[in-house]
Amino acid sequence: LGKQIIHKATTNSTQQVAHQAARENAEHGTVIIADEQTEGKGRMERHWHSPKNKGIWMSLILRPPIPPAAAPQLTLLTATVLADVITEYTTASPNIKWPNDLLIRDKKTAGILTEMQAEQDRIKYVVAGIGINVNHSYDNFPSEISNKATSLKLETGQDLQVVPIIQHILRCFERSYDAFIRDGFSTIKNKWESYGYKIGEAIKIRTNHEILEATFTGIAEDGALLVHTDSDGTRKMYSGEIEWFRK
Ligand code: BTN
Repeated sequence: LGKQIIHKATTNSTQQVAHQAARENAEHGTVIIADEQTEGKGRMERHWHSPKNKGIWMSLILRPPIPPAAAPQLTLLTATVLADVITEYTTASPNIKWPNDLLIRDKKTAGILTEMQAEQDRIKYVVAGIGINVNHSYDNFPSEISNKATSLKLETGQDLQVVPIIQHILRCFERSYDAFIRDGFSTIKNKWESYGYKIGEAIKIRTNHEILEATFTGIAEDGALLVHTDSDGTRKMYSGEIEWFRK
């Protein structure tokens, strides 16, 4: 991972650069990094605020030999890698909010955007986008997110260098990815659950066709969210957003 690194001072979105590079046959493990993104992309078509030199904005091109249905597991893998790196590099204690948010003290510090190109039952490539708010001060956030977003610096008081963090992410990612490809998602599940946010609590999940209130009991062997409702018993959820917590 990271044998090929494309660095941009400014770009629209490292996801877009990565898709383009992947279509032009960039090899597995190619990394795109930008100091600033003008059109950073979040999940659900949201904008991802990516000011210059305040965070880590990067995308990894992966060519995993797994079926397309297993690709969401890469999001959970990436989240555990980021949680490990934040734990090792800072004094903060991160949690992972399923599927892709890293929270510190209930506020979002990092997000992951996993996008896939597949044909029939084969993955052509995956772009794993990672955004980490590192050195933002309070007024570096737009007002509409300033009460839900935070940065490593705001949470820890530490001034952090991004390059060693990036290097550490790449090392940890490679180790975790290799184990995942060799031995499957069971290599990640326990660690994910140790960081999991609100396991055992009542949650509300919004999917494309329903809003479900349930108890979050953990994640399944395939990375699905496991929830329990009195009427349906245990259910597996593959997509959706945990929107609101009753407790
Ligand atoms: C989310 O939480 O909604 C996902 C945010 C992902 C942001 C990263 S920053 C690097 C990469 N390039 C983008 O445009 N988005 C991802």
